[in-house]
Amino acid sequence: MSKPKTIPRVLGEYWLEEHLGTGSSGSVFKAYHLKKHTRVALKVQRKTLTNAHLDKEKIAYSLLRTCKGIPTLRATGAIGRWKYLAIGLLGPSLESLYQKDTKPIVGFLTDTKPRAIMDLRTVCSIAIQLISRVQSIHDRGVLHRDIHLGNCLVGLPPDEGTIYLIDFAFSNCYEDPKTGQHIPYQQRDQGPFVGNYFFTSKNVHCHLKEPARRDDMEAVALVLIHLLIPGGLPWTIYGDPHANAIMDFVHASKCYTLPEDLCRGIPSEFKDFLQDCRQLKFTASPDYDHWKNTFRQLAQTHGFSNIDRFIWPPPPLPLESTKTSLRLSL
Ligand SMILES: Nc1ncnc2c1ncn2[C@@H]1O[C@H](COP(=O)(O)OP(=O)(O)OP(=O)(O)O)[C@@H](O)[C@H]1O
Ligand SMILES: [Mg+2]
Repeated sequence: MSKPKTIPRVLGEYWLEEHLGTGSSGSVFKAYHLKKHTRVALKVQRKTLTNAHLDKEKIAYSLLRTCKGIPTLRATGAIGRWKYLAIGLLGPSLESLYQKDTKPIVGFLTDTKPRAIMDLRTVCSIAIQLISRVQSIHDRGVLHRDIHLGNCLVGLPPDEGTIYLIDFAFSNCYEDPKTGQHIPYQQRDQGPFVGNYFFTSKNVHCHLKEPARRDDMEAVALVLIHLLIPGGLPWTIYGDPHANAIMDFVHASKCYTLPEDLCRGIPSEFKDFLQDCRQLKFTASPDYDHWKNTFRQLAQTHGFSNIDRFIWPPPPLPLESTKTSLRLSL
């Protein structure tokens, strides 16, 4: 992930420090405001780039102002050949924690991908927070449409127990702000892919349906299952899905893997959640509170407390849960 060389070191009132990432909508830097003496995350895009990603993000962050777990929009602007968007600076993504810190599965065939698994307490805590984020953005009429591990960031201390949702480049409103009418159902042609190959819902990826609230929820379900099953979702095993052969494999694997096969060996709540998302009607509102309660109860059953806070690395297992894990593995 190299930093584009042509972006100047100073952009308006911002001094660009560390390069944090580059993706489809530009490059992101940790940047220092030379007058206010504060730090932000600055997303920079060439003005000539025809996609309207930064403009979409500006609209979304404005609509989502004051939502918990959504970074605050600090500024937007244009200087020379560049447009930029400044938002609150955050910590690492769940993707980088997953890649770096999870344990290899002993005895599992290894290739270049980490054969990783996150513990149940952590995954329940991520479930509750991500469902809450999705609920609050939907409450404001916004769909994210690109939920994946790289777009879920942990706050900086003292806010490291909060998971943030970023990157609204693919976002959209699902209802008309004036009339409240839901966007019309559409079967898309093969057009541009919306979202992330690994985590986009089956309805959008395999059946080319227009994304709606159910599809943001399904992306959350796939993220949770990916974190919990050894080796992650089966369609992620070959890594980068942008090569044609891998893209076809990801598509086929996602279309034909049954939820009960995908979730074998993990608590049935995850399979139920995935199935529920897939069964929702296009215009339906997901039952966010039900699923938050389900994952809270699951955590309690295993003896985990203080579940609303994300803690990484995970605290030691409570005694009861250690006994349950031992019983399950015998
Ligand atoms: N507010 C932030 N604080 C800290 N790091 C950030 C912040 N925003 C973005 N990043 C880093 O930059 C990366 C890319 O950001 P973002 O997802 O917004 O860009 P993108 O161009 O849409 O990327 P992609 O196409 O890969 O999704 C993130 O994965 C994260 O590592
Ligand atoms: Mg992103």
